[in-house]
Amino acid sequence: MAKFSLFFVLFTLFLSHFVGSSLGKKQSDVLGKFYKAKKIKNSAIGKSYFKTAPENLELEKVILPQEGLKEKDWIKNLPGQPPVKFQQYGGYVTVNASAGRALYYYFTEAENSESLPLLLWLNGGPGCSSIAYGAMEELGPFRVNSDGKTLHRNQYAWNHVANVLFLESPAGVGFSYTNTSSDLKTTGDTRTANDNIVFLLNWLERFPEYKNRDFYISGESYAGHYVPQLAHEILHHNKLANRTLINLKGIIIGNAVINDDTDLIGVYEYFASHALISDETYLDIKKYCSNDDYNKSKCDGAYAIADNNTNNLYIYNIYFPLCHDGNLTKYPKIPSPLQFEPCSDNYVYAYLNRRDVQDALHANVTNIKYDWVACSDPLFYNWKDSPVTIIPLLQESLANGVRVWIFSGDTDGRVPVTSSKKSIKAMNLTVDKPWHSWLYGGEVGGYVETYKGGLTFATTWGLTDLEDLLASTVKEIEGGADQTGNEIVKVDGAGSEGGAVERSTPHELGEESIA
Ligand SMILES: *[C@@H]1O[C@H](CO)[C@@H](O)[C@H](O)[C@H]1NC(C)=O
Ligand SMILES: *[C@@H]1O[C@H](CO)[C@@H](O)[C@H](O)[C@H]1NC(C)=O
Ligand SMILES: *[C@@H]1O[C@H](CO)[C@@H](O)[C@H](O)[C@H]1NC(C)=O
Ligand SMILES: *[C@@H]1O[C@H](CO)[C@@H](O)[C@H](O)[C@H]1NC(C)=O
Ligand SMILES: *[C@@H]1O[C@H](CO)[C@@H](O)[C@H](O)[C@H]1NC(C)=O
Ligand SMILES: *[C@@H]1O[C@H](CO)[C@@H](O)[C@H](O)[C@H]1NC(C)=O
Ligand SMILES: *[C@@H]1O[C@H](CO)[C@@H](O)[C@H](O)[C@H]1NC(C)=O
Ligand SMILES: *[C@@H]1O[C@H](CO)[C@@H](O)[C@H](O)[C@H]1NC(C)=O
Repeated sequence: MAKFSLFFVLFTLFLSHFVGSSLGKKQSDVLGKFYKAKKIKNSAIGKSYFKTAPENLELEKVILPQEGLKEKDWIKNLPGQPPVKFQQYGGYVTVNASAGRALYYYFTEAENSESLPLLLWLNGGPGCSSIAYGAMEELGPFRVNSDGKTLHRNQYAWNHVANVLFLESPAGVGFSYTNTSSDLKTTGDTRTANDNIVFLLNWLERFPEYKNRDFYISGESYAGHYVPQLAHEILHHNKLANRTLINLKGIIIGNAVINDDTDLIGVYEYFASHALISDETYLDIKKYCSNDDYNKSKCDGAYAIADNNTNNLYIYNIYFPLCHDGNLTKYPKIPSPLQFEPCSDNYVYAYLNRRDVQDALHANVTNIKYDWVACSDPLFYNWKDSPVTIIPLLQESLANGVRVWIFSGDTDGRVPVTSSKKSIKAMNLTVDKPWHSWLYGGEVGGYVETYKGGLTFATTWGLTDLEDLLASTVKEIEGGADQTGNEIVKVDGAGSEGGAVERSTPHELGEESIA
C-alpha cells in the first residue's frame, strides 16, 4: 500500500468502529458535564494554556532498563479468543518511579508488522479507558460476546493497516495505577502528556524494533487534547535532543474536543438541526450562555431542558438503540452484522474483571483495590488543567510537518460534526481542495475538505440499509495531497479484507468519548 494511504485506510476502517461504539456512552456523558464545569466562572479546572514538560526532563533518568520485558509481556492467548495470526502484548511501563505510577498498554501487532507504521490510540474522558472503548468496542481486533467470557473478531480492526498500541492514560484509568493515591486528585492535561511521553520512550526501549518506525498518534473525543499535547511533547524533546527520538508523522483525532467555545455551541446547533431540541431552547443557549448576554438562571434553565430532551438517547449515535437488557447470557448471542451491540459496556466490564483475563493480559499485577471500570470518576471530578483550546498545538504540528487529520462521524451528538466544522473554521485555514463527497459502492460515504498546510477534515455519513452496508466496497476514496504534493488519499480496496467497509456509522466518536 502506498505510503501515504494510511490515513485513508484507517479512515475507512474507522467506519466500523462507529458502529461498534457503545462504550462511548459513558465517555460522552462525562464530557458533557466537563464542558459545563469549565464554562463556570472561576471554575476549579485551570484553563490556562498548555504548559510543556519541564525543560530539564532528563531523559536518561526517566528511561529505565527494559531488557527481557517484551518477552514477558507477550500474550499467548486471551481467554475465549478465536485463533489469530498476529501477536499481542500487554503489560506495565513505570512512568514515575518515586510516585509509583505505571501505565498499562495493550499492543496488537499487524500480521506483517515489519512493514506497517506504529499507531498509538487514546480514548478520552478525561478518565476513560482505551482498552474499554478503543480496543474492545471500536478498532481493536476483538469484541466481547454477550456471555462476558468469549470474544469474536472485529473484521474492521485497525491492525490490518498498522501496529496498534492502546494506552490506558493517565494513571488511574482502567488498569493503569498509581501508588500515590493523591495523584488521582492532582492529574490534568499536563501530567497526562508528561507521563505519556515517558511511557513512549520506555516502550520504545522495550520494543526497539519500532524506534525508527513511522509513528502516528490517534484518539477521539477528549483525546482531542491528549493527541496534540503528546505531539507537542515529542516535537519539543526531539528538538532538545537534536535528533529524532520519536518519528512522528501525523496525528488523527476523531469527534474531538478542540476549542471549547465552538465545540460547545456546535452541540446545541446539532441538537436543534436534528430536531432533538426546540429552536427556542437553542436560541436561549446561544444567547444566555454566551459571554455577552450571560444570565446564569436562563442559561442553566435552557441547558436543563436540552439535557432532558436528549436524556433517553444514545448520544454517540443519536439513531442507535439503548441497552435494555445488559445481563450476560449463558451462550453468546450471534453478533449483529452491523456490529452494533448496545449492551457492550456490560460485556466488556464482565470480561475485563475476570481474573483469568487479567492474568492473560498481565494486568492488575499489584491487586488494585478497586474494580476495573471504563471511566474513572475520581480523575474526572478532580481534573486539574484543561486549556480552552488546542488550536495552537494543531498549528504547531502543521508547522513542523506533522500532518493533521480531523474526522467526524456525523451522527454523534457529543462532539458533533457541527462542532468540528466550527472549530476548524476558527483556525482560519485556506482551503486547498474544497468540500466534496467521497464515495464507495457508488454512494456517498462522507465528505472531505483539505486545507493548505497539511490538515484534512473528513466526515462519514450515517448508517445506510443493511444490504447495502454488507455489499459495500470501497472503490476509491480520493482526497487531497499532503504538503509535499504527495497524493495521500487514494485507496483501492482498502484494508486487507477485500476492501469491505461498513457504511459509516459514526458514533460519537466515541467520544466519543468525551472520550
Ligand atoms: C513524579 O510525580 C510526582 C507527583 O506525584 C511529581 O511531584 C514528581 O515531580 C514526578 N517526578 C518526575 C521525575 O517527573
Ligand atoms: C506499587 O506498589 C506495589 C506494591 O508495593 C509494587 O509491587 C509496585 O512495583 C509499585 N509500582 C510502581 C510503579 O512502583
Ligand atoms: C544538531 O545535529 C546536527 C547534525 O547531526 C549538527 O550539525 C548540529 O551541530 C547539532 N546542533 C546542536 C545544537 O547540537
Ligand atoms: C436573568 O434572568 C432572570 C430570569 O429571567 C431575570 O430575573 C434576571 O434579571 C436576569 N439577570 C440579568 C443579570 O439580566
Ligand atoms: C423532563 O422530562 C420529563 C418527561 O420526559 C418530565 O416529566 C420532566 O418534568 C422534565 N424535567 C424538566 C426539568 O424539564
Ligand atoms: C437481569 O438480571 C436481574 C438480576 O438477576 C433480573 O432481576 C432481571 O430480571 C434480568 N433482566 C432481564 C431483562 O432478564
Ligand atoms: C485487581 O485485582 C483485585 C483482586 O486481586 C480485584 O479485587 C480488583 O477488582 C482488580 N482491580 C482491577 C482494576 O483490575
Ligand atoms: C482567526 O481570525 C480571527 C479574525 O481575524 C482572529 O480573531 C482569530 O484570532 C484568528 N484565529 C487564529 C487561530 O488565528
